[in-house]
Amino acid sequence: MVGRLSTAVVAVLFNNILMRLAGSIGVASITIILYTQGILASIFTGYSIGIAPVISYNYGKQDTERLKKIYSISLKVILATSIVFLALSQLSAGLLVNVFAQKETEIYKMALRGFRIFSFSFLFMGFNGFSSAMFTALNDGKVSAILSFCCGCGVCNDRKKACSQNDDMTEIIEKMIAADVIVMATPVYFYTMCGQMKTLIDRTCAAYTKLTNKEFYFILTAAESDKNIMETTVAEFRSFTYSLPPKSDVFICARGLF
Ligand SMILES: Cc1cc2nc3c(=O)[nH]c(=O)nc-3n(C[C@H](O)[C@H](O)[C@H](O)COP(=O)(O)O)c2cc1C
Repeated sequence: MVGRLSTAVVAVLFNNILMRLAGSIGVASITIILYTQGILASIFTGYSIGIAPVISYNYGKQDTERLKKIYSISLKVILATSIVFLALSQLSAGLLVNVFAQKETEIYKMALRGFRIFSFSFLFMGFNGFSSAMFTALNDGKVSAILSFCCGCGVCNDRKKACSQNDDMTEIIEKMIAADVIVMATPVYFYTMCGQMKTLIDRTCAAYTKLTNKEFYFILTAAESDKNIMETTVAEFRSFTYSLPPKSDVFICARGLF
């Protein structure tokens, strides 16, 4: 949030200063420069956002060795990308600026000159973004070690690869595959299973075909004593086991508990 706020403040300041110094052509040029920078910087942003959960996960696990390795690899990746971006910007500045402005116009000439100077900022930008993302990730390390929601990215089903999210689910699913008997327990929340259990089931998406022919035990608790109180929750678990199928499924329902 602070990063976005500072970007907005800098953009307003740039516009004001350039309006005074070079009029509307100056404002148009800086807009082109910032747009072009935005396209290249999105690679840095993508890397920082992508690596943050990996940092959080390993911080939550207190795996210092792994964290050091990730940090060192990240610095190398960012350094290499920064140099490539600087070279690319210097070599193809004309091409990039031409996406937004016609050649030979005043705006094109000003934006081109400005972009060539501005592109030296690529040497620092990636490190700034990464540092900020890393500290945010370290702050919330333990939280990210909790299961993330399935985001339906399709990496597991469409591309037949391991789940794109690197959290505790990797270990949980391995244990589920190795087990002969699986026991799952949930309180009844608003007549259905709790959100965490649903998340766990959704996240088995990457490997549910390997969960066939196991013995399943489901333990359900609810505050109400009505004998139909578990119906929806039982049906929900059955829609999960229907996709496997299991060797057997046993439901243990405890009502009147709170
Ligand atoms: C958000 C929420 C929703 C709940 N919804 C229901 C419900 O719809 N029906 C019910 O009988 N109990 C409901 N309960 C009570 C829980 O099912 C009950 O407290 C739980 O089964 C007790 O087990 P626990 O001590 O393991 O949490 C709800 C509890 C919470 C916190």
